[in-house]
Amino acid sequence: MQAEYLKRRQQLMSKLGNGTAIFRSAPMAVMHNDVEYNYRQDSDFFYLTGFNEPQAVAVLAPHHAEHQFVLFVQPKDREKEVWTGYRCGVEAAKELYGADEAYPIAELDEKLPQYLEKADRIFYHLGRDRSFNDKVLKHYQSLLRTYPKRGTGPIAIEDTSPILGSMRLIKSQAELELMRQAAAIATEAHSLAQQVTAPGRYEYEIQAEIEHIFRLRGAMGPAYPSIVASGVNACVLHYIENDRQMQDGELLLIDAGCAYSYYNSDITRTFPVGGKFTAEQKILYEIVLEAQKQAIAQVQPGNTFNSVHDKAVRVLTEGLVEVGILKGEVDKLIEEEKYKPYYMHRTSHWLGLDVHDVGVYQHGDNPQILQPGQILTVEPGLYIVPDTKLAEDQPATDPRWVGIGIRIEDDVLVTSTGHEVLTAGVPKEVDEVERR
Ligand code: GLY
Ligand code: MN
Ligand code: MN
Repeated sequence: MQAEYLKRRQQLMSKLGNGTAIFRSAPMAVMHNDVEYNYRQDSDFFYLTGFNEPQAVAVLAPHHAEHQFVLFVQPKDREKEVWTGYRCGVEAAKELYGADEAYPIAELDEKLPQYLEKADRIFYHLGRDRSFNDKVLKHYQSLLRTYPKRGTGPIAIEDTSPILGSMRLIKSQAELELMRQAAAIATEAHSLAQQVTAPGRYEYEIQAEIEHIFRLRGAMGPAYPSIVASGVNACVLHYIENDRQMQDGELLLIDAGCAYSYYNSDITRTFPVGGKFTAEQKILYEIVLEAQKQAIAQVQPGNTFNSVHDKAVRVLTEGLVEVGILKGEVDKLIEEEKYKPYYMHRTSHWLGLDVHDVGVYQHGDNPQILQPGQILTVEPGLYIVPDTKLAEDQPATDPRWVGIGIRIEDDVLVTSTGHEVLTAGVPKEVDEVERR
């Protein structure tokens, strides 16, 4: 993997010109009082270094004579390590992570200027860590002040996100292997969940079955809080209480994925708790399934990112008109977004080191074009939410539909000839999810 991180740093450095890029590790997150969550490195930091410790700073200075890659890290400290775990330390940061130079993090203020004073720009993302922003800005200001004397130094701060975003958007072979593994583990977990769901069981029991598989197969854990939503709970998009007893005749919506070596999967399936759809559930399910299949068919290199969503919206709207939930002409209903009370979210997001991964969806007025190596979710749904305010020109929703929530989500890789559904192994056909 070291060769891969090196390649990424070189690719980034080739875009920095005479600039110097600074990356800050993620902060520790507190669970309560002095108890902390498992540490999880900032995705950009990890993507460029593979280094998973807090209190670290990475500097990339392509114009520097000796040190193009510098790490500031926590020094070895026997006493502290007994409490908070192993630290790589300054020396090993060079050996294990390929840094040209490494320093204790306490020396940042003293050592950082030498990597900035010959740079013409500082590349840094201001969006994450306020107090570290202040530190970077202080260095920048002090270099600006002394610029007239030295005649060299940074005169702009530029965001690293556009460069990192477009790099991370296209997955390498090594990344793809990890994504496939994350997808395979979540596929197994969802398939098991479908088998063990039964009337009378609690949502959290199914959550436990899923997350058991995640850890059992070596995943770090859930990629996001698992959603196990029965009955009307499925109409709450981010329902995570998962504490209800499931009843026969209801649907169960499960949105759960895992993080495997930092790479995420994100799968949703909806199926009948008791093994048989009601007539209404089946009608709406078939609409969502058709929308999802037609949206997935749009995933082809050269198509726009938005074409996937547009197709899903069209098929969903046609279906809603057909069953009488919406009234009017399909094109006009789409233009006026009359489907939104029933389909209020987007169809896709990029997937990778972050669940909602980096990378733009639109370049100003220009659409993002799908390219081989990108991975996106395709996740249309219908949610007939009780008491939703409808437009005046729309019919009151027949109560027989109310309370039904359905989403179907797969992870889809753009290939050179079309696409590959990485999560295709989880049953979603009507007869499969009925005859579990
Ligand atoms: N589970 C988060 C999402 O589907 O976007
Ligand atoms: Mn999801
Ligand atoms: Mn998703």
